[in-house]
Amino acid sequence: MLKFILFTSIIISLYAQEPISPIPLESGVNRDKAKLGKELFFDTLLSKDNSVACVNCHDVSQGGADSNVVSIGFNGKKGNIQSPTVFNARYNFKQFWNGRAKNLYEQVDGPINNPVEHNLDSKIVEQRVNNSKLYKKRFSDVYGISKIKYTHIVDAIVEFEKGLITPNAKFDKYLRGEIDLSDNEKNGYKLFKQYGCITCHNGINIGSNSFQKMGTFIEYKSKNSYPDKESITNKQIHYNVFKVPTLRNINLTAPYFHDGSAKTLTEAIDAMAKHNLGVELSKKEKKNLIDFLNTLEGEKPAILESN
Ligand code: HEC
Ligand code: HEC
Repeated sequence: MLKFILFTSIIISLYAQEPISPIPLESGVNRDKAKLGKELFFDTLLSKDNSVACVNCHDVSQGGADSNVVSIGFNGKKGNIQSPTVFNARYNFKQFWNGRAKNLYEQVDGPINNPVEHNLDSKIVEQRVNNSKLYKKRFSDVYGISKIKYTHIVDAIVEFEKGLITPNAKFDKYLRGEIDLSDNEKNGYKLFKQYGCITCHNGINIGSNSFQKMGTFIEYKSKNSYPDKESITNKQIHYNVFKVPTLRNINLTAPYFHDGSAKTLTEAIDAMAKHNLGVELSKKEKKNLIDFLNTLEGEKPAILESN
């Protein structure tokens, strides 16, 4: 018994020192609400001409993002920024690249009202869902209501999003002491800490818990302009400042950066090293960093498997 206590306390103390923590194994969501939210997430009913659903730009079979440089929405119109993943978004300290929504509830309003995304408003969404016999029944079963309000619709979508967690990544199992990593993967993690990637990419989402400048060392220039933090605060110090993106499932969500300018992980790492650390990495270092980043792919969210 004493041995066991000693062993677990060593594991716990080792674990507590790591700057990254694992995704919980269970999402704890209300399954009925989340399943209803899943139907809405896949439904084009939420867009003006019935052509766009959330899943168009957040492909949950492929990392929760899309493969376009900037996303394409209503009427084939181009959006103004890369679509981030919805996986593990519940752990983001703010939502959107510039953090303008403080949580997932506030976030949903964004795409529904955005003229280049769903191009609708809450009243019409409410009407449409109320006009659907199927949703009438589903909301009545799940929420016990006969008149569906916009807030119920948002609530169901958010419950689904909260279920979109990807536990049991190889790296999380390593953190829990269940498995070991290969030498290359471990070396990649070591480099990730030594070079200081970890100063911006840390915590449960390995990012998504602070705003940082793209180009802390060497200025970064995009071809177009994007809604950075300056676009909200009008402060020049916020030029090119974005929420640090999560690195979970990063092998699945190319292209990278707010402007989708990096087509591969190697390109993204090169740009990070240059613009945000002021260093140049060797081929082997890049390879090991990618070996480490590949260990961050988790299991598909359980909520997607259930009917
Ligand atoms: C036309 C493509 C498109 C559609 C449709 C779309 N999104 Fe998005 N989504 C984006 C883009 C692009 C962003 C980033 C916008 C920004 O940061 O300014 C985003 C951001 C998000 C975020 C924030 C993630 C983060 O890391 O900040 C969440 C959550 C999200 N969308 C959920 C949804 C939901 C729910 C729907 C359906 C109601 C939806 N999206 C529909 C493209 C889309
Ligand atoms: C000073 C903070 C900072 C440091 C240090 C840093 N990053 Fe980043 N990282 C960011 C920010 C901010 C972005 C978003 C940049 C953008 O979209 O323009 C980002 C984006 C990324 C992306 C693309 C994510 C996506 O979904 O588009 C990858 C991959 C990445 N970083 C890996 C690394 C690696 C590997 C290192 C170390 C070699 C590193 N970062 C160091 C802040 C940092």
